[in-house]
Amino acid sequence: MLTKYKIVFLGDQGVGKTSLITRIMYDTFDSHYAATIGIDFLSKTMYLDDKTIRLQLWDTAGQERFRSLIPSYIRDSNVAIIVYDITNKESFNDVTKWFNVVKEERGSNVLVVLVGNKSDLDNKTITNEEGETLAKKLGCNFFIETSSKNGYNVKNLFKKIGKLLPELQ
Ligand code: GTP
Ligand code: MG
Repeated sequence: MLTKYKIVFLGDQGVGKTSLITRIMYDTFDSHYAATIGIDFLSKTMYLDDKTIRLQLWDTAGQERFRSLIPSYIRDSNVAIIVYDITNKESFNDVTKWFNVVKEERGSNVLVVLVGNKSDLDNKTITNEEGETLAKKLGCNFFIETSSKNGYNVKNLFKKIGKLLPELQ
């Protein structure tokens, strides 16, 4: 088993990639939107079966103008987290596009997780079932709904990833 894993966050602009990372790292939330410029990097320690492992979290920018940077970060990642916003149909429709970028760069040797974020919002347009169905159709390792605002399922997301990591070479 490896002791260091690279996790790349992908998805359209504004779906909450940075906010998910901020929630898991600092347990805080900022409602002010500051678009990620290029790529950001953070490192997190996790304990798995008495072993300390390091997660390298790569936060990509959803804005089109930074798209060309992304493939090289996917290439050496162990886990790809594709995020959409449950109130934003376009971000959900774009999941397949993100998935294809991952498959192109990384083949099958990568865990792919689908996250429907902003579960705290009332104006939900994508149901849990739709998320689950798409994840199955694409062959994602799992699907989960989260809220970086109230923290719902954010720890579970990382716990579930942690359980799958030993499968990786
Ligand atoms: P880019 O860096 O441009 O790709 O965006 P991003 O995916 O990193 O989105 P970001 O985390 O910056 O969040 C965008 C906006 O959505 C911000 O105003 C956040 O406060 C808000 N937001 C993020 N997650 C949630 C959530 O779970 N619930 C709610 N209500 N708002 C959220
Ligand atoms: Mg961001």
